Amino acid sequence: MASSRLPGFYRLGLAERRRRISEASGLAAENLAAVDPGALPLDVADGMIENVIGEYALPFAVAVNFLIDGREVLVPMAIEEPSVVAASSNAARMARPGGFTTHASAPVMIGQIQVTDVANVEVAAASLREYSAKLLEDARALVPRLAERGGGPVGFDVRVLAHDGPDGGVLVAHLHVDCRDAMGANLVNTLCEALADRVARIVNGKPGLRILSNLTDGRTIQVTCRVTDDALAADGEGAEVRAAIAAASRFAELDPYRAATHNKGIMNGVDAVLLATGQDWRAVEAGAHAYAARSGAYRPLAVWREDGNALVGELVMPLAVGTVGGALHNHPAARFALELAEVTRADSLAAIAGAAGLATNLAALRALATEGIQRGHMSLHARGLARAAGATGDLVDRVAAELSACGDVKADRAREVLARLKESP
Ligand code: MEV
Repeated sequence: MASSRLPGFYRLGLAERRRRISEASGLAAENLAAVDPGALPLDVADGMIENVIGEYALPFAVAVNFLIDGREVLVPMAIEEPSVVAASSNAARMARPGGFTTHASAPVMIGQIQVTDVANVEVAAASLREYSAKLLEDARALVPRLAERGGGPVGFDVRVLAHDGPDGGVLVAHLHVDCRDAMGANLVNTLCEALADRVARIVNGKPGLRILSNLTDGRTIQVTCRVTDDALAADGEGAEVRAAIAAASRFAELDPYRAATHNKGIMNGVDAVLLATGQDWRAVEAGAHAYAARSGAYRPLAVWREDGNALVGELVMPLAVGTVGGALHNHPAARFALELAEVTRADSLAAIAGAAGLATNLAALRALATEGIQRGHMSLHARGLARAAGATGDLVDRVAAELSACGDVKADRAREVLARLKESP
């Protein structure tokens, strides 16, 4: 992969952008047909879910400038919200030359087997713990191919949830499964279902739910980056911006109302990558917010600290994704997105989604701490309206500039301005 640093990429027309991406990624131009309208055959869509009557399209874009663990990455994004792609590309540029450094935990998912109506639940839990090695061994025997690939069940533990109540004594067994490159939902659910009756028999209780937990705190990604004052702002204002971003981070650390919005900004980048690559983004969302609240208070998933003349950001969050299985096999755009990002492993995909999240967080905090978010939003919106009105080439910028200058960023105004500029260029 050549450099992901593509200055002025956003100014190019769509056809030229496709050409540049093909050139930078080394993927043949024909591969981009995977993101053409109608690329997902209707009969394939019909086979994916029930009651299908059509398809629903979203823009597919590439965030540029990302350097992740020393690797140049073109980051695929599918999202409807303007400015996320531009903002993350901009933040990724600021984070160069060091780029983003990531560390992924082992890809361990948790399966839950609930047992109710247990008499003397503490004693029952202790006796179930004595069977853990045997249950683990039996669980491993159920997935020999995963074990051959270095994965499979790796732990079994027991938690007491209630001593008494409407469901009697309640305990839950956790089966920890290293899912390697699969997201692992089917795998974990199947294992839980296979073990549940035995687990319930051991404690003389009633088998309850058997399903994975989306609080995947055994499958996390850590992403860090360092941004110098010079990269943060021109004209010697970097130190001020750095301090303002660190203060914005502290605000999120103090207040769950702000932390929710701070984390939304992170999920803008994370979800855009997850959607583009065909992941179960609802699962990651559920896990992210449960993890953010794990201390009992809802906290930010990423924090920013000042370090000399630089700002250092750190994101830690659960990110259960897969590069094998799931909807991916059937979805041409998702397969293309993985090719574009040169990803075959789940941990590399988690690293990219995490880096995108930290980038969108940085961009949002920088905008909020300086000019506010609306100005950037409005100028991008103005460009979008100019294009929708039919502007091409330098007319896009000229129409957008006029809309922004008069503060009337509306579709009919864009058409008017374009007509006038075309008449008297
Ligand atoms: C908007 O989609 C996301 C932001 O609200 C995030 C934030 O406030 O940090 C700008």
